[in-house]
Amino acid sequence: MARITASVFTSHVPAIGAAMDMGKTQEAYWAPLFKGYDFSRQWMKDNKPDVVFLVYNDHATAFSLDCIPTFAIGTAAEFQPADEGWGPRPVPKVVGHPDLASHIAQSVIQQDFDLTIVNKMDVDHGLTVPLSLMCGEQDPKTGSWPCPVIPFAVNVVQYPVPTGQRCFNLGRAIRKAVESYDQDINVHIWGTGGMSHQLQGARAGLINKEWDNQFLDLLIENPHGLAQMPHIDYVREAGSEGIELVMWLIARGAMSDVDGPAPLPKVAHRFYHVPASNTAVGHLILENQ
Ligand code: DHB
Ligand code: FE
Repeated sequence: MARITASVFTSHVPAIGAAMDMGKTQEAYWAPLFKGYDFSRQWMKDNKPDVVFLVYNDHATAFSLDCIPTFAIGTAAEFQPADEGWGPRPVPKVVGHPDLASHIAQSVIQQDFDLTIVNKMDVDHGLTVPLSLMCGEQDPKTGSWPCPVIPFAVNVVQYPVPTGQRCFNLGRAIRKAVESYDQDINVHIWGTGGMSHQLQGARAGLINKEWDNQFLDLLIENPHGLAQMPHIDYVREAGSEGIELVMWLIARGAMSDVDGPAPLPKVAHRFYHVPASNTAVGHLILENQ
């Protein structure tokens, strides 16, 4: 049987990808941010998964207002880095895992979550920036990401977006799906996006360190309670784009303490940093005990 052994949570910011692509990571502005991921890159090597199930949001890149899937699972063999206006990022293509992705689609849909199945899509900074942060620089031609990745896109851009509770319950269904896969493989689930940020309007530039850190505490210790938080609290406290944080509840819902007698996951790493463009960067690595 396959197992989810760990979850990873991290913000995504396009400028982080640009800083890596342009060799600026050691500049004074960026160095403290990247230092927070030194541990994570070593941890990825020491705990290399067979597959990463990567929950992220598309930013009107693969999906426009023409078609807005709430939850979309990437079942393709590969996914190309998207052109978001400056050309595609110089990073390797993302290799998928069609067999496990199809199995998860089958199982999760049978558990009453209506997923959109995506056989062709490009992946934007929401997916490639977390990969770059966790895995470091890769040569776009000769390099590759350390393992296959199943992209799982969540609509947090156009309302109505899914509730925290629905995301949390979906994570539980994904865990069951993975555990019913017949190959003995090690899966990590990532929740990405957030933390506090607002990119437009009167409150543009909003950062709420206290609320973000309370969110991290609750995510670790009381995810059932956190799942009940309404959207308006995210938006009021963490800004309009702070709503990206609901995606973290999918990854947290897939951890083994949620439905069973297992203890809380071990916090292998916790990091929080401001500034990175207009976003507060939060990062957690949780291991199932
Ligand atoms: C920024 C953050 C995001 O989450 C995003 O999707 C785009 C930009 C930023 O802080 O610049
Ligand atoms: Fe974003």
